[in-house]
Amino acid sequence: MKERLEALKHEALEQLSKVADAGQLAELRVKYLGKKGALTEILRGMGSLSAEERPVIGQIGNEVRSAIEALIEEKQAHFERLETEARLAAEKVDVTLPGRPLRQGAVHPLNQVIQQIEDIFIGMGYSIAEGPEVETDYYNFEALNLPKNHPARDMQDSFYLTDDLLMRTQTSPVQARTMEAMKGEVPVKIICPGRVFRRDDDDATHSFQFHQIEGLVVGKKIRMSDLKGTLLEFTRKMFGANTQIRLRPSFFPFTEPSVEVDVTCMKCGGSGCRVCKHTGWLEILGSGMVHPRVLEMSGYDPEEYSGFAFGMGVERIAMLKYGVDDIRYFYNNDGRFLQQFARV
Ligand code: DAH
Repeated sequence: MKERLEALKHEALEQLSKVADAGQLAELRVKYLGKKGALTEILRGMGSLSAEERPVIGQIGNEVRSAIEALIEEKQAHFERLETEARLAAEKVDVTLPGRPLRQGAVHPLNQVIQQIEDIFIGMGYSIAEGPEVETDYYNFEALNLPKNHPARDMQDSFYLTDDLLMRTQTSPVQARTMEAMKGEVPVKIICPGRVFRRDDDDATHSFQFHQIEGLVVGKKIRMSDLKGTLLEFTRKMFGANTQIRLRPSFFPFTEPSVEVDVTCMKCGGSGCRVCKHTGWLEILGSGMVHPRVLEMSGYDPEEYSGFAFGMGVERIAMLKYGVDDIRYFYNNDGRFLQQFARV
């Protein structure tokens, strides 16, 4: 038995010394020291030994067990150390590498233009009003003097949700909403930035959705000259101190008289170039004196009160101001385009 124990020790230590990984080590531990392992197997024969032999063999058995255990532990520690080293190597941070730059976001050019326009009008005493993007037929059309079946509705192809609800085609409905909410009080002096929707083709200058800014002033003795002065002040702040404006007669159902407003081309200063199609002028907004019927429908007596209104497309202003020739750049979210408008 003593020889078998010595042989087992020899074999086990030899096997253990060649063990390649923690998995193999666990297998060897079971094989030699497990409940059904080789050592237990040999020691099971102790029952047949004499009383003198038993403690001697018992002691040898213990020594063999300790020797095997010691080597297993040593190997176990070795593998754990290897594992830790491998993990540390894999997780190593090279602090000498250059950092990855964090890309910084910026305010979208359309929002920059909206904020700029808001600032200019707030500086002139206006407040900001808002209205819903899903609008009723009444506010989008009827309250603006566009009765059902009126041919001027054709100017704006619309997305209808029901017979009575549509995606607003303009920010003008906020005029009627604001006047109603003011219940005949003056002055009304608001601008309303917002998104509008039209059943338009998508091309370089059209989009099914875009932004407008509406303006409305109602009070006593508001005149066309107030409108002109206001717009001149606005365009000079927006496009430069030398800007001139020109009013051309036009038609909008909610204003009378109506005008379209041009500014001197910011590219050539009015001498004529490709951008202004050699006219020296660029159209930037629609405007006019609030139609008496619009005032009346929203609770203002046109005999006592008058007002002016205007509406402009934010994309168009941004395209002119920055020389962008395709409206779709604003919506594609291409960082190379947007980054050019980032302010540091
Ligand atoms: N709502 C008009 C449009 O979308 C723009 C407009 C023109 C607004 C004249 C006005 C205005 O307030 O007075 O084409």
